[in-house]
Amino acid sequence: MKWVAAVFFLNLFYSVISSPEDGEPYLHVMARSSVYNAGVKRAIYCKGRNLPETLQWYSPSGDIVEGRSSRNTRVYVERSKNDTLANSLVALIIQEAMIEDSGNWTCKAGSLSETIEITVGVKALISDPDETLEGEEGKSVKLDCIAKGHPSPVVQWYIENDPIAHDHKKYVIRVKGDNYQLEIKNLTHKDTNEYVCKVTQKALSHFANKRVQLIVNHKPLLIDENNEVYYSKYRTEEVYAIMNETKNITCSVLATPPPTFRWYRRHDGFDDELLTDADTILISENGNSSVFVLRMLDESALGEYKCSADNNKGHVSIIYHVSLGNKPNAPDFVELTGKSTTSLTFNVSCSTCNTASAEEDISEDPRNLTVLGYSFEVVPVQEGFLPDWDAATEFLVNLNQSNSSLFTISPLANSTTYHVRVRTRNAAGYSDWLEVSPDPTTDLACKLTGSFILLIILSFIYPLINQ
Ligand SMILES: *[C@@H]1O[C@H](CO)[C@@H](O)[C@H](O)[C@H]1NC(C)=O
Ligand SMILES: *[C@@H]1O[C@H](CO)[C@@H](O)[C@H](O)[C@H]1NC(C)=O
Ligand SMILES: *[C@@H]1O[C@H](CO)[C@@H](O)[C@H](O)[C@H]1NC(C)=O
Ligand SMILES: *[C@@H]1O[C@H](CO)[C@@H](O)[C@H](O)[C@H]1NC(C)=O
Ligand SMILES: *[C@@H]1O[C@H](CO)[C@@H](O)[C@H](O)[C@H]1NC(C)=O
Ligand SMILES: *[C@@H]1O[C@H](CO)[C@@H](O)[C@H](O)[C@H]1NC(C)=O
Ligand SMILES: *[C@@H]1O[C@H](CO)[C@@H](O)[C@H](O)[C@H]1NC(C)=O
Ligand SMILES: *[C@@H]1O[C@H](CO)[C@@H](O)[C@H](O)[C@H]1NC(C)=O
Ligand SMILES: *[C@@H]1O[C@H](CO)[C@@H](O)[C@H](O)[C@H]1NC(C)=O
Ligand SMILES: *[C@@H]1O[C@H](CO)[C@@H](O)[C@H](O)[C@H]1NC(C)=O
Ligand SMILES: *[C@@H]1O[C@H](CO)[C@@H](O)[C@H](O)[C@H]1NC(C)=O
Repeated sequence: MKWVAAVFFLNLFYSVISSPEDGEPYLHVMARSSVYNAGVKRAIYCKGRNLPETLQWYSPSGDIVEGRSSRNTRVYVERSKNDTLANSLVALIIQEAMIEDSGNWTCKAGSLSETIEITVGVKALISDPDETLEGEEGKSVKLDCIAKGHPSPVVQWYIENDPIAHDHKKYVIRVKGDNYQLEIKNLTHKDTNEYVCKVTQKALSHFANKRVQLIVNHKPLLIDENNEVYYSKYRTEEVYAIMNETKNITCSVLATPPPTFRWYRRHDGFDDELLTDADTILISENGNSSVFVLRMLDESALGEYKCSADNNKGHVSIIYHVSLGNKPNAPDFVELTGKSTTSLTFNVSCSTCNTASAEEDISEDPRNLTVLGYSFEVVPVQEGFLPDWDAATEFLVNLNQSNSSLFTISPLANSTTYHVRVRTRNAAGYSDWLEVSPDPTTDLACKLTGSFILLIILSFIYPLINQ
């Protein structure tokens, strides 16, 4: 790029100082047709040799451009002091270019002339480039994109990088003067998103974006395990709990604004007791789920519970049938089979577990629930201290994820020795722990050094080759 620029300037230099064949009339405008931004100052040179008449600049309207005077201070010509017909150099000066200056400007002397086309553009400025808008479920919302510029910009709305097309139904695009307005009709929770208005003026190499974060207020919606919306006001769920342990029952909904959760103990199908214990009811940070910690002290804790979620748009509820499930047996075998700088791989098995993997073998017998997978806990070894399991990180693995008994846990830190323990899990809860012995260590990241050195060498050689 630098070379190109240097060559360009050299050419320009030579074209100024070199003279054509002696005696031959010659005229040349030392600029190309181009686009200027409004407000800039430009000097456009026209040079001539052995001219039949005085060299003049003509404006797009065909008038001769005068020299600078008290009346004429913005657009004028400047001649060099020793200007002669034999050797002439006349600059057209445009101060604070205006859109009206656009057009064909001609440098002329007798029958010799050369014309360049000048376009003066104004970069489109976007008012309010970051906006947050709220919309209401079922209503419509209008997103403005006001982009005033010259030449008129090309404007397009996007959602997640896909251009939005006017379809009369969901998306209506109206151009009102400089406002390229997008109307989104019949809002639903799915319309909560970031919308981007892209403004382009190719001639000015100008690009600008406006971002609108749209939040649609909507009634709570039930979602399934895969976060798919379930269009119903209520549903029921089977919950298995283990005697003498706690069971976390999670009630998740999709709602804006975040809902108020209430938990009820139901007797004979009626919500006859509102549960209010702050220790047993926990609301997630983002406010769209609530966890009820059920303590299975005795069989009287079994039965029906209800979670209701309300906001100003509506409400939904989930009814949980809590029954006893079996505590799964602990794994009886665990062995380290592989490691890297960031992971550890274990061969785990539980010979006494119901690990039916085929769909038809999945047991719904609460006394013999199918094992879903394992739960690993890892915590770095602190020399001279017992494992601090409270500080451990948990990794869940599903049996249905792999055909083999090998499970890889990651990310872990390199060259670190960990305490690791594993337990079985089913729909009711967890087994007792089985500790991994001896404590495994991840690999040292330095093993990468070989390729790292190669990378450094290459990064030195590459610029040399490139020259
Ligand atoms: C005017 O004179 C100067 C120095 O005498 C010279 O460098 C310059 O090229 C001349 N300009 C023209 C347009 O001949
Ligand atoms: C300038 O001249 C070119 C070539 O003659 C022509 O195509 C163009 O329309 C002219 N532009 C204006 C603004 O008159
Ligand atoms: C609005 O959207 C909902 C859900 O997508 C649909 O059932 C309803 O018919 C739509 N209403 C209108 C007026 O298009
Ligand atoms: C639950 O705990 C009580 C008291 O600690 C004990 O008597 C009972 O056997 C335990 N039940 C189960 C199923 O472990
Ligand atoms: C239940 O949730 C609480 C709080 O998030 C957590 O401390 C506890 O370990 C969970 N219990 C079970 C059995 O998952
Ligand atoms: C909960 O709300 C947050 C934002 O408030 C959102 O990012 C998240 O996806 C929601 N989770 C569920 C399960 O709806
Ligand atoms: C896992 O361990 C069991 C018991 O030692 C062994 O039979 C099996 O081959 C191992 N599996 C793998 C993939 O290493
Ligand atoms: C548990 O279920 C599995 C698969 O359905 C079956 O093979 C096994 O015999 C059952 N175990 C008990 C103790 O019922
Ligand atoms: C595996 O089981 C988990 C629940 O234990 C489920 O969420 C997931 O979708 C299942 N994956 C496949 C591939 O079946
Ligand atoms: C598990 O094994 C079966 C047959 O042995 C094969 O069809 C299936 O694709 C395998 N699944 C995975 C996740 O490897
Ligand atoms: C390896 O671990 C050391 C500290 O133990 C850390 O500083 C370094 O960033 C780690 N390297 C990688 C690649 O994770």
